[in-house]
Amino acid sequence: MKDDHAARLRFDTLCIHGGQSPDPISGAVMTPIVLSSTFAQTGPGEHKGWDYSRAGNPTRDTLEACLASLEGGTHAITFGSGCAATTSILLLLKSGDHVLVGDDVYGGTFRIFDKVMKQFGISSTFTDLTDIAKVREAVQPNTKMIWIETPTNPLLKIFDIAALAAVAKEKNVWLAVDNTFATPALQQPLALGATMVVHSSTKYLNGHSDLVSGAVITKDAELAERLHFVQKAVGAVPSPFDCYLLLRGLKTLHVRMRQHVASAQHLASWLEKHPQVRRSSTRASRATRGTRWPGSR
Ligand SMILES: Cc1ncc(COP(=O)(O)O)c(C=O)c1O
Repeated sequence: MKDDHAARLRFDTLCIHGGQSPDPISGAVMTPIVLSSTFAQTGPGEHKGWDYSRAGNPTRDTLEACLASLEGGTHAITFGSGCAATTSILLLLKSGDHVLVGDDVYGGTFRIFDKVMKQFGISSTFTDLTDIAKVREAVQPNTKMIWIETPTNPLLKIFDIAALAAVAKEKNVWLAVDNTFATPALQQPLALGATMVVHSSTKYLNGHSDLVSGAVITKDAELAERLHFVQKAVGAVPSPFDCYLLLRGLKTLHVRMRQHVASAQHLASWLEKHPQVRRSSTRASRATRGTRWPGSR
């Protein structure tokens, strides 16, 4: 219990301060919004770490450091939307590669796999990944990645991240986990063995419905370098203003998620006792249990 409390305090603190330090020029404690597209160079290639904002931007760098700290990763790469994050990951694959995808994913994610990437020879199979023995059989010689959302949008299906990570490791493929719904406040897939975490930060991470953005977080330095290359080369980057708004939204992630869980628990208990509501499967109660705030009763 003591450890849970300490871990929770640590996470709460990271939501507010993760990856952030006062601005060295002004001492501003809030990350400045650096709108400049171009940065001065004292000589060819000599600069303070940034030359052009598609390649790198100070406000974006701070957001990426904060997101990496929240997911327990070492690198975060941010994008102009969750769909841009997904597409950028898939751009690491090549024609002939295959992805094993959970049988319930956000419709836009399905569209990227089934309508966009298919044209470039990247195939995908949508399977119920709750049966681990079947997952093992479903991995093909050309499979490069297992892709899940957990809980899923829209059915709130839950997958066993640690078990899937073990299969991914055994088969030498990546495990990508879309953590948009649970957020790192409730589940940290990298600690369970996932290769990368994907977010539509448009949703709970920001929490104010006033921006669209996405992110990938990993502990794999080589993968991060490849994703930073795609981020720069393809250019689906978030604006510095949206990076600032997202940093601001993250400062309340812990309290918002705590309240979401309390409200969901309250509604679930109310529905359970409602005379006109019939329990048809165990899915609803499993979904609620899976999102209980760590350390709560
Ligand atoms: C689970 C999940 N992943 C990814 C996305 C795509 O994110 P975006 O709308 O930011 O492109 C969504 C959007 O609803 C989503 O719900």
